[in-house]
Amino acid sequence: TVLVVDFGAQYAQLIARRVREARVYSEIVPSTMPVAEMLAKNPAAIILSGGPSSVYAEGAPSLDRALFEAGVPVFGMCYGFQLMAQTLGGTVDDNGAREYGGTPLHVSKAGSTLFEGTPTEQSVWMSHGDACSAAPEGFTVTASTEVVPVAAFENDEQKLYGVQYHPEVMHSTHGQQVLEHFLYRGAGIEPNWTTGSVIEEQVEAIRAQVGDKRAICGLSGGVDSAVAAALVQKAIGSQLTCVYVDHGLMRKGETEQVEKDFVAATGANLKVVDASERFLTALAGVSDPETKRKIIGREFIRVFEQAQLEILQEEGPEVAFLVQGTLYPDVVESGGGTGTANIKSHHNVGGLPEDIEFELVEPLRQLFKDEVRMVGQELGLPDEIVQRQPFPGPGLGIRIVGEVTKDRLDLLREADAIAREELTVAGLDREIWQCPVVLLADVRSVGVQGDGRTYGHPIVLRPVSSEDAMTADWTRMPYDVLAKISTRITNEVADVNRVVLDVTSKPPGTIEWE
Ligand code: XMP
Repeated sequence: TVLVVDFGAQYAQLIARRVREARVYSEIVPSTMPVAEMLAKNPAAIILSGGPSSVYAEGAPSLDRALFEAGVPVFGMCYGFQLMAQTLGGTVDDNGAREYGGTPLHVSKAGSTLFEGTPTEQSVWMSHGDACSAAPEGFTVTASTEVVPVAAFENDEQKLYGVQYHPEVMHSTHGQQVLEHFLYRGAGIEPNWTTGSVIEEQVEAIRAQVGDKRAICGLSGGVDSAVAAALVQKAIGSQLTCVYVDHGLMRKGETEQVEKDFVAATGANLKVVDASERFLTALAGVSDPETKRKIIGREFIRVFEQAQLEILQEEGPEVAFLVQGTLYPDVVESGGGTGTANIKSHHNVGGLPEDIEFELVEPLRQLFKDEVRMVGQELGLPDEIVQRQPFPGPGLGIRIVGEVTKDRLDLLREADAIAREELTVAGLDREIWQCPVVLLADVRSVGVQGDGRTYGHPIVLRPVSSEDAMTADWTRMPYDVLAKISTRITNEVADVNRVVLDVTSKPPGTIEWE
């Protein structure tokens, strides 16, 4: 394992992913973790991330010198680099040498461990106020910029390396190569962490955890739950029962994907609960977005728990595990380490016994989203499931502005299917993060079709580009694709006579309309 010590910037996750792209397993730890605890994890190497602080500011995160003296190879980046310099007796100061953005780097020692085989002049991504003006004793300076005399250094004997810039961002043109040089040449790590090895490892871990007991997994139609279920299915086969609650708010074909394609690919036991009537009844007369969300969430839990109860009644107390598709970013964000937690299932159905507790099985806890997709692919899940774009839990219920009714859902499903089909044909699925299609059910506008006046509803297209859905920009889509979608929707979907494009970034707009 390579530990990435997080100094509180947004870079740690990116670094961890880059290490994994180099086929080396990585984990993020907070900089507040005592060094002894880090070393107890027996890391093959340690990477110190960037961070927002200045190393000599009061309260700035620091590091115990012991980290550098344990014989574990260390690579400091940006703040991590400065911290390494300062801790080991180099000089870091605010000499006014600020650099932000793409910066030319001059490599002064071409054959060095980090820079071997990379050009003498290369572009790197900088973001710093302070700068290192003198390297610690025993270190060789390997690169500089116009304003920073020490932009990279290394000490091969002690296996300590550092760069002032951010090799993990793609704007640093040889960043990945430099990182790999550290991992393979500096730290001597063999790149052998692959999707196949993850599957093998997880299958064993799941078998060990579950033993001969039984597990339940809720399928949402999304990537994470499908891959988690497929992995557990591979490990324990018929000891797993999957539950799919059809709330009637899915898009066209999605329920069938779960019922047919998922089952065909995995051979899983699937219990489908058709609860669409129940959801429609609960949503009748409601148009406030938050109320809709609450109702859908509440009904979902009730139906899912009822299904759990039935499975418990059929299969007995052997059912002790609940599978969840928790991903690594969620684990990091909630400050969590490793291991599994017990959750107490809510029991507001009045059905589940008071003391029922499921132990969680979370086989994706170590993985990033793109790795989950790779695992899914390797497990033989169809592309429609593995490459699926994000879709909100409350489904089309929050894409109808106004009351949710069966007719409106059917109408929106048709319009959405057309938009998705055309985006796929145009080859835009990868470029677009997601494209909500929204029905403005309470709005009507006048139109003309054939010889007659129409008075129909508008459909909104909301294509967005994003990295993580926290921020997003509206996608500049080709006009001819927009034209095709518009023509088809107004021709093929009854009661829709207008298609409009949402050109709002996030912020200020959210991705979904409700
Ligand atoms: P917003 O609309 O907040 O959406 O910009 C950000 C991302 O989250 C998705 N989303 C949800 N996902 N349950 C989910 O699982 C929800 O209730 C929910 N609401 C929004 C949305 O599709 C986008 O990807």
